[in-house]
Amino acid sequence: MVKICSHVVSSAETSDQSWVGTALVVGAGGIGAAVAEELSQRFSELTVLTCGRQGPPDQALQVDLEDDASLDQFMSELQGRGAPLRLLFNCSGRLHGPELQPEKRLKQVNRRQLEQQFAINAIAPVLLAKAVEPLLKRDQPFHFASLSARVGSIGDNRSGGWYGYRAAKAAQNQLLRCLSLEWARRWPQATVTLLHPGTTDTELSKPFQSFVPAEKLFSPKRAAGHLVDVLVQQTPDRTGRFLAWDGQEIAW
Ligand SMILES: NC(=O)c1ccc[n+]([C@@H]2O[C@H](COP(=O)([O-])OP(=O)(O)OC[C@H]3O[C@@H](n4cnc5c(N)ncnc54)[C@H](OP(=O)(O)O)[C@@H]3O)[C@@H](O)[C@H]2O)c1
Repeated sequence: MVKICSHVVSSAETSDQSWVGTALVVGAGGIGAAVAEELSQRFSELTVLTCGRQGPPDQALQVDLEDDASLDQFMSELQGRGAPLRLLFNCSGRLHGPELQPEKRLKQVNRRQLEQQFAINAIAPVLLAKAVEPLLKRDQPFHFASLSARVGSIGDNRSGGWYGYRAAKAAQNQLLRCLSLEWARRWPQATVTLLHPGTTDTELSKPFQSFVPAEKLFSPKRAAGHLVDVLVQQTPDRTGRFLAWDGQEIAW
């Protein structure tokens, strides 16, 4: 395992990367809202916009990542704005829902739940990349980050369970690894990064927090601080990595 980030990033380091332009945070849930706040506080020259299905009235753009027509509309609205896009941080995702529970055993695996997990945790991130690609420029830096999860690591899977969520995150990792290789050729200033936020106190993790020691459960603000620390260290020569909140590389 390679540790690439274990310290607080200084403003001198980050200013080198010219964090200027528009940042889109897609999925302003627990972690996404905190990431948007963190980016706004750290980078005064970044215009941070949140995007999602619903949310605060000041939410800049509406998009349902599981609806092709909505993604097409999102793409044309972005192109109409014409602002230089500096960063897209996908913080959307789903672990459970009214009719969706992570599977404990094979008996609970079914087509409908697998499709629900893949729709948002695997397919949505790569379609988001497709939606913003027309805004990229060969000579301008661009960071694309997406939240994955350590449980999506195949190499690190020692306990099983959570079939659909694990598999969907693993599929996201592969799709975005492909993307990183293609963009390295076509958009040499772009970076693609898959990030594990650490277990964080949000609606997504609420039903499962009793197994987590208090000191290992991050507040969204703390998780966002770590994630932005790792993200600003990413450079095109380090594209296509799967990294934890502390900068540690995670096995695919
Ligand atoms: N919390 C953790 O401990 C933890 C650990 C590892 C990884 N992660 C990952 O981190 C990411 C963020 O999780 P979170 O804890 O912040 O969860 P959260 O509070 O539930 O936020 C998830 C966000 O995704 C949005 N979303 C879901 N489906 C969408 C769709 N079709 N179109 C647009 N937006 C959609 C939700 O919007 P709506 O309100 O419209 O549903 C919500 O804003 C997820 O990918 C999760 O897998 C979290």
